[in-house]
Amino acid sequence: MPDEMLLHLPLVNSLLERHKGSAGALLPILHDIQAGLGYIPDAAIPEIARALNQSQAEIRGVISFYHDFRTAPPARHILRLCRAESCKSRGAEQLAAQLRERLQLDDHGSSADGRISLRPVYCLGACACSPALELDGQVHARLSAERLDALLDACREDA
Ligand code: FES
Repeated sequence: MPDEMLLHLPLVNSLLERHKGSAGALLPILHDIQAGLGYIPDAAIPEIARALNQSQAEIRGVISFYHDFRTAPPARHILRLCRAESCKSRGAEQLAAQLRERLQLDDHGSSADGRISLRPVYCLGACACSPALELDGQVHARLSAERLDALLDACREDA
């Protein structure tokens, strides 16, 4: 058994036990594991498959279907740029291009140094002050190219 799983096994087992016998348990289990560990370790998949009597391929298929599930530890900073209508009409696509260019990442990318991950989001409830993004859980609205650069600079300087 990989070292990674030895560390996580007690939490994974207690979550599997908690959801035992409940219909439609897979998504709640995956959400709980991610909430507890920050991601879903690959080594947890055989345990989940065994507990739910499903194949590992089925479990992996569900994880890959939903973009919010992570299969690697989260980056230090999570930046979620809103791509919904109001933000789009006020420059979100240009900001997305700025992010891709500056970080050399795609819209769902994570930097190799584990510093930042990008995730699109579809409305942060800040439409009146669009365009908006959420950085590490905090919403920043009325974005401009300059403000976005300043936020990225702060992420880079934060050791
Ligand atoms: S559309 Fe971007 S915050 Fe609502």
